[in-house]
Amino acid sequence: MVVMDDYAASAHAAVELLAGHVAEARAGRGPVTAQPNPDDLAAELELDRWIRDGGMDPNSFANWLPRYLDATVRLHHPGEMIHQVGVPSTGAALGDLVHGATNNPMAKYEMGAAGATLERAVVNWMLDKVGFDREAGAGVLTHGGSLANLTALLAARASVAPGAWRGGVRDDLALLAPPSAHYSIRRAAAILGLGEDAVIELEVDELERIRPDRLPAALAHCQDAGRRPMALVAVACATSTGLHDDLRELGSFCAERGVWLHVDAAHGGSALLSERHRHLLDGIERADSVIWDAHKMLRTSGLCAAVLVRRGSHLPAAFRQSGEYLFYEQESVGFDLLDRALETTKTTLGLKLFLSLAWAGERGLGDYVASRYDMAHRFYDALSREPDLVFPYAPESNIVCFRVGDGDQLAIRDRLLADGRFHIGSTMLGGERYLRLVVMAPDTDMATLDELRLALRAASTPLPA
Ligand SMILES: Cc1ncc(COP(=O)(O)O)c(C=O)c1O
Repeated sequence: MVVMDDYAASAHAAVELLAGHVAEARAGRGPVTAQPNPDDLAAELELDRWIRDGGMDPNSFANWLPRYLDATVRLHHPGEMIHQVGVPSTGAALGDLVHGATNNPMAKYEMGAAGATLERAVVNWMLDKVGFDREAGAGVLTHGGSLANLTALLAARASVAPGAWRGGVRDDLALLAPPSAHYSIRRAAAILGLGEDAVIELEVDELERIRPDRLPAALAHCQDAGRRPMALVAVACATSTGLHDDLRELGSFCAERGVWLHVDAAHGGSALLSERHRHLLDGIERADSVIWDAHKMLRTSGLCAAVLVRRGSHLPAAFRQSGEYLFYEQESVGFDLLDRALETTKTTLGLKLFLSLAWAGERGLGDYVASRYDMAHRFYDALSREPDLVFPYAPESNIVCFRVGDGDQLAIRDRLLADGRFHIGSTMLGGERYLRLVVMAPDTDMATLDELRLALRAASTPLPA
């Protein structure tokens, strides 16, 4: 049945169940993650039958949903610390509910005036926070940071090689990026037709931060190889370490040499809201383009990311296209975003960010960011004194890397995972494997981290042969 006559009853049931699920997770009850065999899970959820026969109604849905929720990762659980995935706030979760029922593809104003107006408001707010003049700059929300990086680099390509849109890319472009850059940067180089080989790796220090003193040599190397730098990419912060490149130094260099500076602040951009942490992004206003994910530290669900450019004309210049049924010469009212986004059907991304802000206010979200960064630091302070725990650096954000003893770190992680109370990850740094955690859940506190310390001890003790 197409009409939504059972919507209210089903949605009420869902909201009750979800509220209970989130409350249980916040209290640390239930396993933080479930990893059942997918075939068993498909059988348990009766997927084949539902797909074949349909007929779900409010009652059967209310019976089915808890079984689905049982096999989800509980992002609100204090022990959930594996990835930089936003823990949805009440406002953001309601945004998805509203969008789910209204579905306005608002990249054309005519297809969603409310969503488009909300997007313009949150993008302007982000431009202000980055320090770009909102009248001179521009921005758009995209479905995720990877797409945001691609869009920003497309704008860089249009600036350096305006003919590339029609004529394709000559093999003289290069992208300068540190090895710590997110893999979406290399993907973007390949997708944009430069090829991965056009990514020239910048020299970094032992913690994988760009060495500003080595930039002249990198540029000379690029030019000697007969290539033009399309952009220089800096990270704020790096995915694996949570450390920041020196944006002020990089900004000065790029401005002096006329190189497009792209700052990937997908994770760290939200620190702009915390007075005590804003300095980590000092100089970001000198970038030509910035990306900033709301679905990391601004507590929206996936996906919601922003591409922001200092000079507004660079964004529409990235897409030199027209489509007769979509791009009208004159709009009767409002504005369209089709000239600056890869997507045609774009969800009302601004709604969940707006509602997340409307609930907490920018001060409230800033306090959340500060509290998670502080918690990571407290974990480091408390544990770095222990003899067999090695921290390669003091954390700057809510991402912490460490080793427990000399044993197999992945085996430790697996034992923790099996225990069910903690979900942490791992990464490589300087050729060594480290455990890695990201403090995202608002309820992760020192008691959680103390419990984790004990669990790590137990998991790193060799099991009896
Ligand atoms: C620094 C950085 N850039 C880009 C991305 C990609 O973002 P998304 O997962 O939203 O595509 C990530 C994801 O973790 C990231 O950490």
